[in-house]
Amino acid sequence: MEPTRPLTNTIDTMLLEERRYEPDPEFARQANAQPDIYERDWEEFWETEGRERVTWFEPFAKLYEWEPPYAKWYLGGKLNVCFNCVDRHVEAGNGDKVAYYWEGEPEDERRTITFADLQRDVVRFANALKGLGVKKGTAVGIYMSMVPELPVAMLACARLGAPHTVVFGGFSAEALSDRLNDMECELLITQDEGWRAGKKVPLKRNADVAVAQSPTVRKVVVHRRTGGEVAFDEARDAWWDALTKGKSDDPASAPCEPMDAEDLLYLLYTSGTTAKPKGIVHTTAGYLVGVATTHNYIFDVKPDSVYWCAADVGWVTGHSYIVYGPLANATTGVIFEGVPNYPNAERWWEIIERYKIDILYTAPTAIRSHMKWGPEHAARHDLSSLRLLGSVGEPINPEAWIWYREHIGGNRTPVVDTWWQTETGMIMITPLPGVTTTKPGSATKPFPGVAAAVFSESGEQVAPGGGGYLVLDRPWPAMLRGIYKDDKRFRDTYWSKYEDVYFAGDGARIDEDGDYWLLGRVDDVMNISGHRISTIEVESALVDHQKVAEAAVCGRADERTGQAIVAYVTLKGDEEGSIEMLEELRDHVAKKIGPIAKPANIVFTPELPKTRSGKIMRRLLRDVAENRALGDTTTLADPTVVEEIKERATADASED
Ligand code: WT7
Repeated sequence: MEPTRPLTNTIDTMLLEERRYEPDPEFARQANAQPDIYERDWEEFWETEGRERVTWFEPFAKLYEWEPPYAKWYLGGKLNVCFNCVDRHVEAGNGDKVAYYWEGEPEDERRTITFADLQRDVVRFANALKGLGVKKGTAVGIYMSMVPELPVAMLACARLGAPHTVVFGGFSAEALSDRLNDMECELLITQDEGWRAGKKVPLKRNADVAVAQSPTVRKVVVHRRTGGEVAFDEARDAWWDALTKGKSDDPASAPCEPMDAEDLLYLLYTSGTTAKPKGIVHTTAGYLVGVATTHNYIFDVKPDSVYWCAADVGWVTGHSYIVYGPLANATTGVIFEGVPNYPNAERWWEIIERYKIDILYTAPTAIRSHMKWGPEHAARHDLSSLRLLGSVGEPINPEAWIWYREHIGGNRTPVVDTWWQTETGMIMITPLPGVTTTKPGSATKPFPGVAAAVFSESGEQVAPGGGGYLVLDRPWPAMLRGIYKDDKRFRDTYWSKYEDVYFAGDGARIDEDGDYWLLGRVDDVMNISGHRISTIEVESALVDHQKVAEAAVCGRADERTGQAIVAYVTLKGDEEGSIEMLEELRDHVAKKIGPIAKPANIVFTPELPKTRSGKIMRRLLRDVAENRALGDTTTLADPTVVEEIKERATADASED
């Protein structure tokens, strides 16, 4: 049987998902976004948001300038990100409002930090940094876990005009020193150790190894988190406590540096196809307007909201939607230091109940983990405060979307599946709660003021129903301003496939209603007998089976069909893989998508290989499927997982 969907040569799409969720009229009435938001002229939209959402020291003179592939936004404007995120709220009388509830991993450690507290902490730390010679333009590295001092460090840098790069606390010494060297950081802010699932992560020890290979770093500031013993170089290192002790917390003692709209705010490194990470450049005004605007409309944040983005600040999700967006909007946020299943799988739901969280933003990988642990953990807690759920990071399988809405959202809450990238800085394709009719698995529409399209290989717009490459064909305020010190790689990676159009590297299709369905990274697309099939569709068909918790598929070379599909499947609870199960799953995929998409083999495995941000590394699965030596495994969260899969895969093969 041939697929019945329209085909293009780019990516064939076959999975039909027909469930629909209309906005609830009551939610719609009170929503920050109203339907007419889509009718606004895009330049007027960004002009108005720019003037109203941000406080300027000097207003901007020109909305944007576009000399492909480089854009500038809010030209001539002067502002300070820290002033917008902290000081102006205190000045407006909101000093007593909670900025962050911090929940430590050890269960009895909690802190409540008001905007006034945050201002005092930031000002004191900015004074400490000034004492170490940090000023406008000094590059600062930050290597910490999820402690309140992490946003304090970022904001203090922004206050002084010192660009930062935050390196995720789970990264190795080598990854850290690569980034410190590329940015030529003069200072590193770290901590003794971090907590992770009851174990201590040796941040300072890694930092010492990294700094030994990073000649530009002259000072290391160390926050004491666990109190564990660490090496201390008296000449180079300084304790956070000692440095801030006695420092003034008067905002005027460390004034907010007036920054140009296009001054560098931060670099965030993201991995590409080659080993060297790319330093993604984000500047001041456009980024701030972009994240604050999207945060307001997409999460429907209210003055009394308690909002929880359960990502790590070390990823762009944390930069944009734990720190800069929510704080610019004076939102009360939650920061959680730990992991979802320590000491047990109820931790998240306890947190939601305790703080009466109304907005939760997380990733499909976390949702699938909770599915695997079972809905009973959430069921033991009162989650009725939740009003809205968000997802980001990967395509979300329809079954995970539905589970999330049902078991976490009590079948009431809208779910917003938000597509974006480190490079885009802000959410780009997303439903607007109260406005959009959602479909499980679809990120629906470009955000107001954003333009997107799906192109074929040759650069034609693909007709509704067909699959192709996702592009962004107009500049947007939070867009990357380049790859740090690498103009050529910037042009090659994003701007060379199509002229003056941003190539996102993701497959997508647009359906008859104009809704976008993300199909995963284009490098992951499989070619079966000339049909280009996306991994997410086969994975979603597998996860649709009631016994499957998670699935990852990839192609392996096949003499007959070009490529054949190999599936790696994690079953729920105590289910065991068997030949019968294997046949059942193959038939299930055939029924959902078509026989063409039937996996040639299925390997049952307790875990899938993921990056530390939770993305499945299909590249490694391809290596296993084709019996090759494994490529780079340094970004894996748990390197033992792929070894185990390798063993299972060879065991299966020898049974055949
Ligand atoms: C890539 C960007 C953006 C914050 C976290 C990831 C994938 C992200 C979705 C989504 C389908 C998604 C894409 C994208 N992705 N969100 N809602 N649906 N795919 O940032 O590490 O820069 O990764 O994540 O493949 O290109 P990142």
